[in-house]
Amino acid sequence: MNADGRTRLNQMPEWTALAKHREELADTHLKDLFAADQRRGIGYVLQVGDLYIDYSKHLVTDETLRLLRELAAATDVFALRDAMFRGEKINITENRAVLHTALRAPRDAVIEVDGENVVPKVHAVLDKMAGFAEQVRSGAWTGHTGKRIKNVINIGIGGSDLGPAMAYEALRSFTDRTLTVRFVSNVDGADLHEATRDLDPAETLFIIASKTFTTIETITNATSARTWLLDALGDASAVAKHFVALSTNAEKVAGFGIDTANMFEFWDWVGGRYSYDSAIGLSLMIAIGPDRFREMLDGFRLIDDHFRTAPAEANAPLLMGLLGIWYDNFHDAQSHAVLPYSHYLSRFTAYLQQLEMESNGKHVARDGRQVEWQTGPVVWGTPGTNGQHAYYQLIHQGTKLIPADFIGFAEPVAELSGEVRAQHDLLMANFFAQTQALAFGKTADEVRAEGVPDELVPHKTFQGNRPTTTILARALTPSVLGQLVALYEHKVFVQGAVWNIDSFDQWGVELGKVLAKRVEPALTEGAEVPGLDASTEALVSRYRQLRGR
Ligand code: F6P
Repeated sequence: MNADGRTRLNQMPEWTALAKHREELADTHLKDLFAADQRRGIGYVLQVGDLYIDYSKHLVTDETLRLLRELAAATDVFALRDAMFRGEKINITENRAVLHTALRAPRDAVIEVDGENVVPKVHAVLDKMAGFAEQVRSGAWTGHTGKRIKNVINIGIGGSDLGPAMAYEALRSFTDRTLTVRFVSNVDGADLHEATRDLDPAETLFIIASKTFTTIETITNATSARTWLLDALGDASAVAKHFVALSTNAEKVAGFGIDTANMFEFWDWVGGRYSYDSAIGLSLMIAIGPDRFREMLDGFRLIDDHFRTAPAEANAPLLMGLLGIWYDNFHDAQSHAVLPYSHYLSRFTAYLQQLEMESNGKHVARDGRQVEWQTGPVVWGTPGTNGQHAYYQLIHQGTKLIPADFIGFAEPVAELSGEVRAQHDLLMANFFAQTQALAFGKTADEVRAEGVPDELVPHKTFQGNRPTTTILARALTPSVLGQLVALYEHKVFVQGAVWNIDSFDQWGVELGKVLAKRVEPALTEGAEVPGLDASTEALVSRYRQLRGR
């Protein structure tokens, strides 16, 4: 029993039932499941908004899904979901509400935190963002010298970078192509250097995105960016026209020298990795315009409503979360691949890495005790078809089980034309072929029948039985992007709820930050750093030697 009165997950009868069921299915191949049910290909699907989600190529039966749903019921996933939507402080280690869903709530919604309806504040900021975005897009907002802003650089890291950077790439074809929009995150000065080296400071707007406004990478890059600007424009008052801030911390923003009139606010109940539809999305809004941004928010909201109201059997985030648990906890899968067949989703998996791994990379349960079950998997992947020529070999014929999500679109973006547009069918032929090959493989007999010499038959045989989800939509629009992101947000929620971990804190990133601060003087001044281990001490001394210090 847990301190919170909940039976430990791995002692629940629903857990034991799943473990037993897994044994019973051990020799069942996906081929058997498809042979036994002619309608599986159209039966194991969900249509949610614009997303057609096919989960037929999973190692599950109706019984598996029923047992998984029972686990979700036993772990009170829907009760925690309702508490989240109500604004209760379910982020227990930080005593905070978890209300990214309020960021896309309609104007007339009422969602209270500590007795205050937060929805009017959300819309006030969205309106302010829209006004500013329009000014930049129209040229009404000019730089210090009166020149039009042509370049927008978002400086932020983690949740203050990955979301807008991913979405900007995803929605490139909806962007104002006369604007150059770049994202700087790495404290490696090369990042800022490459982003600014060909730009005119007089035409450049910096958006400093940081929830806390204390993150060392962001403040360092912002300080260097200010120097770059002032070196060129020579007047400290230029900051007012070239720097805006996105933050929850007005005091620190003012301390940095940015007028809080040029600050776009969000709140502590928005987690960094859940924040790109808040003020953190300003760079994206400038790029695609407020209307497209609002379409994206509508997409998020569509999935929020679905997650909140759909029954368990038809609830897509619940299903995806439970499928992940099936492999993670009952098949010992260590990782999960997300493979978008869209060049525009090139940053999507990187975005999900933070969303999933910072949320569910935890070994302590909500009651403070060590978990005795696996939690979040390693999330990885790159857009098809590039991955096919790199690591798919391992997915097809390696020794590891790697469940994968394939995401594809029926139509290429409108902008593509002629030959380039025609390539889309080939891209999608690969998309469909891969999940087929992964599921059904190729038997030794089939290989032999092709005249392959006996000694090569084992090498050319594919076992199949590799599980995949296929998510198909008509086109990658702002709304569809919002739907996809919300789907994964809530999937992560479901998994964290079942694993009984706090998916909304991130204490695991703190230690490295503290140690970096401690080590820095050793690099720069050769200062004695007490408590350095022998390996790090030797490395630091080698580094200083190489730098000629
Ligand atoms: O990586 C830790 C983290 O706190 C993330 O959760 C967050 O998205 C990122 O740093 C950036 O934080 P901030 O927006 O406060 O600069």
